[in-house]
Amino acid sequence: MNQLKKNAQAVLRGNWQNGFTIPCQGLYPFQWNWDSGFIALGWAHIDPEHAKQEIRSLLKGQWSNGFLPHIVFHNPSDSYYPGPDVHGAELSPYSPEIPTSGITQPPVLGFILEYIYKRLDADPSFLDFVASVYDAVYANHEYFYTQRDPQQEGLVYICHNWEAGTDNTPVWDFIWDTFTVPQYDLPRKDTSLIDASHRPTNAEYCYYIHLIELFKTWNYEDARIAAESPFLVQDPLFNSMLIASNNSLIRLGKLLGRSAQVSQLQAWNTNAKQRFNEKLYDSELGGYVYYDLRGERKLSHLSSSSFTPLFAEIPSAAQAAAMIAHLDGGRFSGAQHERLLCASFDPTSSLFNSQKYWRGPIWINLNWLIYEGLLNYGAKDAAAQIRTDSIALIEKYGFYEYFECDRIKNETLDTGYGGNNFSWSAALILDLLKSQ
Ligand code: SER
Repeated sequence: MNQLKKNAQAVLRGNWQNGFTIPCQGLYPFQWNWDSGFIALGWAHIDPEHAKQEIRSLLKGQWSNGFLPHIVFHNPSDSYYPGPDVHGAELSPYSPEIPTSGITQPPVLGFILEYIYKRLDADPSFLDFVASVYDAVYANHEYFYTQRDPQQEGLVYICHNWEAGTDNTPVWDFIWDTFTVPQYDLPRKDTSLIDASHRPTNAEYCYYIHLIELFKTWNYEDARIAAESPFLVQDPLFNSMLIASNNSLIRLGKLLGRSAQVSQLQAWNTNAKQRFNEKLYDSELGGYVYYDLRGERKLSHLSSSSFTPLFAEIPSAAQAAAMIAHLDGGRFSGAQHERLLCASFDPTSSLFNSQKYWRGPIWINLNWLIYEGLLNYGAKDAAAQIRTDSIALIEKYGFYEYFECDRIKNETLDTGYGGNNFSWSAALILDLLKSQ
C-alpha cells in the first residue's frame, strides 16, 4: 500500500504545473474543471497548499456571470484539439482575460471543499480558505439556477456532451439521431496519442464541434442556447453533483455565518430532490436515467451516472436497494460477479463496449462517487467491493484513465486503457486508501 501511495503521489507531482495539475501529459495539457476538483482532494492528502492553489487556479477561469468553464487554457499547447481558438469563448461578454472553453462540467467544487475540510480534520486554516472562495463557488450555483433551469424545477440542463463529463456515453447516440451535422476537418491529436479504437469516433466529434460552432454564432448566450440548442439534457450525474455541492455549501455556509446564501441554497434544493425522483427515476430499470428536454422524453438507459444520486442522498431506501442490486449480482456485476465494478454503461446493453471511453470501461472518479454514495446508505459490502476493485485495477496496471471490467479479460490483459499517469485516478486512490 505504501508503494501504491508513493506512486500516486509521483503521478500528481509529475502532472503539477506550478499552480494547477494537468489531467494527463500530452492528452490533456490544460486545467480541466471537474478533474481539478478530484485532483485537489488528492493533493489534500499530500500538500494542502497545492489543493488550495489548484482551486484558485481553476477559479481564475470563472466568467463574470458565475459560469465556470470546463477548460482553462493557462498555457499554449499544440498537443490538444479543440484548443481556445475553436472554443472562441471571447465571443461572450462575460468571459475573462484568460482563454477558456465556453461549456462547463459537473459542479464538484462545493462538495470537494467539504471533503478536503473533513480530510484535514476540520483545520481552521482550511476553513479560512473556504471563506475566501465561497462567493465564487456560490456564484457558480447561482448561474446554474438562474440560467439553466428554464422551468424552475430545481433541475439544470447541460447543452453539450462534454458538459456531462461522460463524453460519448451511448445515451447521446439518441440525441445525435435527431439532427445532422456537416463533416468537419478534425485535426484530432488524441487518436494519435492513444489507441484510436478506445476514443470517440470522428462522426461523433463532428457533433461535438458542431454544437460549439452553434454556440459561437449565439455568442454563448444562455437564453439562445436554451431556446435553440439541439442538445438540452437533464443529466443525473450533473444534477447529483450540483445537489451534493448545494448540501456541502449549506453546511460550510453555516460554519461561516453566510445565512443569506444558505437560505438561497436551501430554497434551490427544496424542489430539486423531489423533482429529481419524479423525473429521472426509472422504476422499471431500477435506477436514474436522463431527460431530453428538447425532445421531451426520458432516455432510459443505465450508466454509472445512474448510481451517483446515492452520493447526493437523493434515493429513498427502496430506490437505493434497487440500485444496489445492480451492483451485487445484477446487470453491472453480473450474476456471478463476473465483472469488476463499475462499468460506465449497462453491460447487458447491445451498445456496451468494454474498451471505448465512456461506453463501458471503469472510471475511478465514478467509482469514488459510487463508493461514497453506497456508504451514505450503509451498503458496506457493495462499497467494499467497488473500493477493492478500484485498488486492484490500479495495482495491476498503474494509474490509467479507464479500465476493462470483464474479470476473464483482465486475467490476460496487461494494460489499462486511455492515458497513463492520469491525475484523478491517482488522486482518488489516495483518498480511497485513506477511507475504509
Ligand atoms: N474529455 C474531453 C476530451 O476528451 C474534453 O473535455 O477532450
